[in-house]
Amino acid sequence: MARLPDGDPAPPDGALPSGALAGLRDAPFGVYIHVPFCASRCGYCDFNTYVPGEGGAEAVAGYADALIAELRLARRVLGDDAPAAATVFFGGGTPTLLPPEELARILAAVGEHLGIEDGAEITTEANPESVGPAELTALREAGFTRISLGMQSAVPSVLATLNRQHSPGRAAQAAADARAAGFDQVSLDLIYGAPGETAADWETSLHAATAARPTHVSTYSLVVEPGTLLAAQVRRGEVQVPGEEVIVERFETADRVLAAAGYDWYETCSWAVDEAARCRHNLGYWSGGNWWGAGPGAHSHVGGVRWWNALHPRTWAAHVQAGTSPAAGRETPDDDAVRLERVMLGLRLRDGIALEVLTPSGRAAAARQLDEGLLDREAHAAGRAALTQAGRLLADPVCVALAA
Ligand SMILES: C[S@@+](CC[C@H](N)C(=O)[O-])C[C@H]1O[C@@H](n2cnc3c(N)ncnc32)[C@H](O)[C@@H]1O
Ligand code: SF4
Repeated sequence: MARLPDGDPAPPDGALPSGALAGLRDAPFGVYIHVPFCASRCGYCDFNTYVPGEGGAEAVAGYADALIAELRLARRVLGDDAPAAATVFFGGGTPTLLPPEELARILAAVGEHLGIEDGAEITTEANPESVGPAELTALREAGFTRISLGMQSAVPSVLATLNRQHSPGRAAQAAADARAAGFDQVSLDLIYGAPGETAADWETSLHAATAARPTHVSTYSLVVEPGTLLAAQVRRGEVQVPGEEVIVERFETADRVLAAAGYDWYETCSWAVDEAARCRHNLGYWSGGNWWGAGPGAHSHVGGVRWWNALHPRTWAAHVQAGTSPAAGRETPDDDAVRLERVMLGLRLRDGIALEVLTPSGRAAAARQLDEGLLDREAHAAGRAALTQAGRLLADPVCVALAA
C-alpha cells in the first residue's frame, strides 16, 4: 500500500497558519472525498483501498458519518470566510460501492459545511459494474454533474490480466446509461501497456471508448507499483511489461485515434471534446489550487501548506469522530520545491506555464528545447513554455530541465 511521506506533526485541532488561510481566496477551492473500498483488488493498483476480508473494509458501515465529521472539522479549520467549493470529486477506491443515498448525504454535507458554488463540477468515479440506470439517476438527482468510469480496456484478455470484474462492453453501456440519466459530462479511463496487450488491442480499446461518445478520456500508461500483485508477477517472470518504445508508440496511437474522433488534449494524458468537458477539479491540482481532501490517506493543500491523513480507515475515523485532525503529517514546501512542482504539473497542460515562473537557467533550458522542437515557438513568443507533440513524449526530462 502507498506509503505516506515524512512530514512535521499537524496540531490536534488541524489549525493552519493565518498566512495559509489568507491564500484561500487566491485560487479555486476544491473538495476531494476518498472512498477506500473496492469489491476486489486489481493486481496493478496501490491506491489506499480495502476489499472484503481486509482489515479496514469493515469501516464501510458508518463511513459517511465519519466523512461528515471531517467536513465539520474542515469548516472549523478554514473559517467562515473560506470560499465555497468550485469542484467536488469523489474518488477511490470505488465510491459507488456506497449506495447513492449515502453519496448524496455526503455531498449534501459538503454543501452544508463548506458550501458549493452554483455551477460547480461534481464528479464521482465509478467502476462500470458498480452502477446501473437507477444508481446513475439517483446520483444525477443528488447533484452530481460528471461521472468518470474506469473502462481500462475493451479487450477480454487485457481486462483479465488487469483483474477487472467487468465485461468488455460494460463501460460503454454505463456511459450510455449515464447520458440517459442526464449526465452531460462522462469520462472514460483507459490503461495501456498491460502485459500481453498488442498494438491492435490498444486500438480496439480506443475505438470502443470513442464509440461510447464520452466527453472526456484519460489514458494511463500502466505503472508497476511496488508491493502489488503485478509487481510480484513481473519479478517472478510470469508476465512482462512492454519497453519504452512500445509505450511511446501506444501514446502516439492514442493521440492519433482520439484526435481523429474529435478529442483535443488539454493535459498530457487527458482529452476532452470541448473546454466545458475538461476536468476542472484536476485542473485545480495541476495549477496550484487549494483543496481539502477528506478520508483516509487523502491529501490537502491550502495556501502553501500540504497535509495528508492517516492511511488506515480505523485510525482516521477515530480522529475525526473525536473532533481532532486526522492528519498524519504536514509540510510547507520551500520556494524551490513549489517552483519545481509548478513546472512539473503546469508543463503537462497544453497552455503550459509563464516563462516568468522559471529561473534564468530554466529559461536558458527552454531556449535550447525550442531548438530541439520540444517547446512550442508560438507559445514561447507569447511568454509561455508549452510542450509540442514531440515534447509531450519527453515531458518528464523536459520538465526537470526547465525546473532547474
Ligand atoms: C482511483 S483509480 C480507480 C477508479 C476506479 N476504482 C476504477 O478502477 O475504475 C483511477 C484510475 O487510475 C488508473 N490507475 C490506477 N492504478 C494504475 C496503475 N498502476 N497504472 C496506471 N494507471 C492506474 C486507472 O485507470 C483508474 O481508472
Ligand atoms: S477497482 Fe479501482 S481502486 Fe479498486 S483496486 Fe481496482 S483500480 Fe484500484
